[in-house]
Amino acid sequence: MKNNISYQLTGPFREIVTLAGLPLKGALKDEALQVIPSGGILWREGMIEAVGAFEALAKTPGAVITESRTGGVVLPGFIDMHTHIAFGGTRADDFALRNGGSSYLEIAENGGGIWSTVKATRDLDQQELAQLTAQRADALLRQGITTIEVKSGYGLSVEEELKSLRAVQDAGRIAKADLIATCLAAHTLPKDFNGPPGAYLELMARELLPLVKSGQLAHRVDAFVEKGAFSAAQILPYFREAKALGFAITVHADQFSTSGSEVAVKTGALSADHLESATEKAIALLAGSSVIATALPGASIGLGCAFAPARKLLDAGCSLAIATDWNPGSAPMGALMTQASILACFEKLTNAEVLAALTFRAAAALALRDRGVLTSGYNADFICYDADSYKEIIYQQGRLQPVQVWKNGVCVMNRE
Ligand code: NIG
Ligand code: FE
Repeated sequence: MKNNISYQLTGPFREIVTLAGLPLKGALKDEALQVIPSGGILWREGMIEAVGAFEALAKTPGAVITESRTGGVVLPGFIDMHTHIAFGGTRADDFALRNGGSSYLEIAENGGGIWSTVKATRDLDQQELAQLTAQRADALLRQGITTIEVKSGYGLSVEEELKSLRAVQDAGRIAKADLIATCLAAHTLPKDFNGPPGAYLELMARELLPLVKSGQLAHRVDAFVEKGAFSAAQILPYFREAKALGFAITVHADQFSTSGSEVAVKTGALSADHLESATEKAIALLAGSSVIATALPGASIGLGCAFAPARKLLDAGCSLAIATDWNPGSAPMGALMTQASILACFEKLTNAEVLAALTFRAAAALALRDRGVLTSGYNADFICYDADSYKEIIYQQGRLQPVQVWKNGVCVMNRE
């Protein structure tokens, strides 16, 4: 370190859980976590220089020291790698109908479901949608989430999908977290499209995706592979075209029926998300691939369905990410730690597995190599809880929330 360079140092913290040195795939024991006692984080221009004993780092020439406010537990900023927060309206009626006994697919067939959110989202202009998206991103930031993936998919026409993606881009300029956009034009066949699903996908591949690419509106393409949405046979050529244009792929897979995870593996997708209905065969297929398996416990809780078989996925050797799936229909809660800790109880996940699923494994699902771990060369995205041990965080099932959040080395949330 050169003398004339000014660094920022914060600490001492009771524990810094770095998430460094852990494998991308497979089960993890808590003992494998690197936990630095009386630790400090040293950074410069938004990038971590060193993480280690505070006393030693305090000797760094030129280090500007900010004493930690609570001296609590520090983790990497969380990454919510699957959300649909760019939406208008509410689906409180759907929720009530479901709890009254109707199924998700029935409600969708009867005019509720995704289509009703499409109508409410189309009713907003780009600026209104950006504002709502930014507000929701801010609610996630207060939970310690410093990177948020946001899908379109409530536009479902060339113009409306572009509007949604532009709104996400606008929201990204306001939000303190990084927003990563994904084009989900293949969410469901819009009711106003006059033709079969294959023709809709052809239109989107031909007319929408090149504009998304040239406008740098998203680098990722997603599809809902499901009965009532799109079949594997319909989606495979769509994904081929998306890949040819340079998009990374992610899939809504195996939520109610199987085949989506097979599409994910065949396509070389970054992740296969949902997996509530994943079979043993699908689990083995995912384990033998580089696809990250994603559990969305918020959708299981919202729909009252089974959780994704997270334990089996990890034991088979998969990488596991956990995300909120925040959307107005199946997952209206948007509370990442509550959902992850409930999943941990039902699926018997270790603290290390949950924390990995919210940090570096989620980063890998977004192909981001600069975050999710607290170590030299990574972004200075970190969060602090007022707690004595990292074990308190999952134990308190979301009641304990971070008191401070730093994004690129700037303290962007300071809870009273
Ligand atoms: O991930 N499964 C498909 N898409 C969303 C739900 C969207 C909605 O119901 O509005 C999901 O659960
Ligand atoms: Fe989703």
